[in-house]
Amino acid sequence: MLTPLAHSCNNVFHVIQPDTSLYGKVFKSNICGGKAIVSCDKELNMFILQNEGKLFTSDYPKAMHDILGEYSLLLATGEIHRKLKNVIISFINLTKSKPGFLRCAENLSISMLESWKNCREIEFHKEVKMFTLSVMVNQLLSIKPEDPARRYVLQDFLSYMKGFISLPIPLPGTAYTNAIKARKRLSARVMEMIKQREHEEEEMKKAVREEDFLDVIMSNEDLNYEEKVSVVLDILLGGFETSATLLSLVVYFLAKSPNVLQKLKEEHEAIRVKKGNEKFMNWEDYQKMEFTQCVMSEALRCGNIVKTVHRKATSDIKFKEYAIPKGWKVFPIFTAVHLDPSLHENPYEFNPMRWTDKGKMNKKTTAFGGGVRVCPGGELGKLQIAFFLHHLVLSYRWKIKSDEMPIAHPYVEFKRDMLLEMYPSNKLYP
Ligand code: HEM
Repeated sequence: MLTPLAHSCNNVFHVIQPDTSLYGKVFKSNICGGKAIVSCDKELNMFILQNEGKLFTSDYPKAMHDILGEYSLLLATGEIHRKLKNVIISFINLTKSKPGFLRCAENLSISMLESWKNCREIEFHKEVKMFTLSVMVNQLLSIKPEDPARRYVLQDFLSYMKGFISLPIPLPGTAYTNAIKARKRLSARVMEMIKQREHEEEEMKKAVREEDFLDVIMSNEDLNYEEKVSVVLDILLGGFETSATLLSLVVYFLAKSPNVLQKLKEEHEAIRVKKGNEKFMNWEDYQKMEFTQCVMSEALRCGNIVKTVHRKATSDIKFKEYAIPKGWKVFPIFTAVHLDPSLHENPYEFNPMRWTDKGKMNKKTTAFGGGVRVCPGGELGKLQIAFFLHHLVLSYRWKIKSDEMPIAHPYVEFKRDMLLEMYPSNKLYP
């Protein structure tokens, strides 16, 4: 049976993983208060994603609308979705190869690793959430790591995220109410920054900071104030927790796969040797990290950060032998395809080598969704993770505390924030 509710699980794989031997690959169910079609079929999943806006539409529950706000990209459809998505894509393209972004991700990685030098145990997942958030708020809003605002923003984002997986009970103190309040505070904070900047003199602006993404959004005359705020929150919401979770999953799987870790280390040592005295990495170095890419892709396949998305059929649909009635909810289950033994040999084995044929594997994964709603930020997330991993594998060894494990909530979390024993393995670089 499909298990969409929060629960803990002693195996990261067995989560939202319907028993297809009992129900078949496509079956009817009653989920989130409506009649639904659940699909574990690779072709049908692709068909659903590719036909967004034509035969299917995004259909997140009403409670999520209250939390996300009416201008969120996840809820927007048609022309508005296209307009907002183009703004986000422009941010990502602008940021990806910007030396300032790469430098920021690398500096923050180094300083976080330095700060662990004398620690025996680290709550890794908690720490790296701060890392990915710091990179994002720096690029979007020029909030610096030493700025106390960073902690408040993180706190509000964590409450905001908790709201997604909570029951929508509109009473004081519930996760749902706290999430709505947290979103209001975050919106007010971004709005205040916009208003303050509107009064800034050009000269003063140049003296205070380099142009950041808020400056770029502010100059976009097609967006109203609410849309500008919502774009900032969407990038943060989409970006920081997913990237931190992928980084934690990679580190979790590496701890259990010494041979893979060794191969990864060799790749990063080679990059370091080639760089000689040159301290910082660049876009070309990132492109050399081929095995690192395989490791991240395999962690995404096994870890299933996003297990499904919410869609609704906008007309009666026939696909292969399946009939989907108009108005029914549709859940393409990514986990099921990622762990389907007819598609992946030994699907429960963490084996990055299967990604050496990237073209073939990419047809069997929807870790970043697909179609017009495909994730715009995957590459940006991977870049930060790759830079962090570079310094991590060159400077530390780690061991997972015996009872630590990923749990499905249904978003991936870790029992004790992924408690690790850390040992500096080398003189910390640089
Ligand atoms: C690295 C881990 C990440 C994973 C696994 C991931 C996964 C996904 C998935 C599956 C979707 C599709 C949702 C749907 O179809 O309804 C999505 C959408 C989205 N993601 Fe990501 N994402 C990641 C990183 C990021 C980053 C770093 C950013 C921002 C910088 C980002 C921003 C977004 C946005 C704005 C959307 C909405 C797109 C739309 O509705 O058109 N994501 N992501």
